[in-house]
Amino acid sequence: MTTTPLADRTTAVAARATDLSKIYGQGETQVVALDRVSVDFRQAEFTAIMGPSGSGKSTLMHCVAGLDTFSSGSVRIGDTELGSLKDKQLTKLRRDKIGFIFQAFNLLPTLTALENITLPMDIAGRKADKQWLDSVIRMVGLADRLGHRPSQLSGGQQQRVAVARALASRPEIIFGDEPTGNLDSRSGAEVLGFLRNSVRELGQTVVMVTHDPVAAAYADRVVFLADGRIVDEVYGPTADSVLDRMKQFDAKGRTS
Ligand SMILES: Nc1ncnc2c1ncn2[C@@H]1O[C@H](COP(=O)(O)OP(=O)(O)O)[C@@H](O)[C@H]1O
Ligand SMILES: [Mg+2]
Repeated sequence: MTTTPLADRTTAVAARATDLSKIYGQGETQVVALDRVSVDFRQAEFTAIMGPSGSGKSTLMHCVAGLDTFSSGSVRIGDTELGSLKDKQLTKLRRDKIGFIFQAFNLLPTLTALENITLPMDIAGRKADKQWLDSVIRMVGLADRLGHRPSQLSGGQQQRVAVARALASRPEIIFGDEPTGNLDSRSGAEVLGFLRNSVRELGQTVVMVTHDPVAAAYADRVVFLADGRIVDEVYGPTADSVLDRMKQFDAKGRTS
């Protein structure tokens, strides 16, 4: 495992999993999807989570984002322990502190781009910070598309709306599960660029599940999962270094 001087990193933790386990089923059909995972996601850091299919990437993301329950261990978003929350409080925390970007853009077809972007805040009865909203819309290049409905936008533009929607409420942390999985490589690169800019320029924290080394190279750090455990971590990834790591895991898997 690559060691990084964690003690040198004084940045605050946006989310933390400690000894997090998630077990599906019982007895012979039991699947250990997460096996005592401990990981920090620091503020203003862009983390990619990678690993073979079935290694627990989505489960880790869903558990840390409060979308799924876990079997043991703990999860913290900011200073809040998720395990201590009742359902209603968890819903509120998800709404107020977490942004989501999914592979499917999940926009409402009858609403305009702008209405989609502000929808979560409208539901929560919160007013958008106009200046912040303007800078988010400018960053994702949607200023002249705000009155369009999703059907009038390209896939890349729709995902930019979803990125803006996730950023609009200034959440503590944004989670994406294969956010560029449905995009062509050029639109994908744009969306990844916006996510990276939101980290660099706006101090946003982003955690993204991906299987694509090129997408992972936009992150500050890549966490590798295998069989529900963290098996490696790389800072300052490039597409080549990520690909190399993935090959090493494959080779290990064959020889051991
Ligand atoms: N609802 C479920 N019921 C039973 N097993 C599940 C369920 N969801 C996921 N799993 C299992 O947990 C493991 C991790 O799944 P997942 O987190 O989706 O992996 P990944 O996102 O890395 O492909 C896999 O073995 C998968 O089959
Ligand atoms: Mg998955």
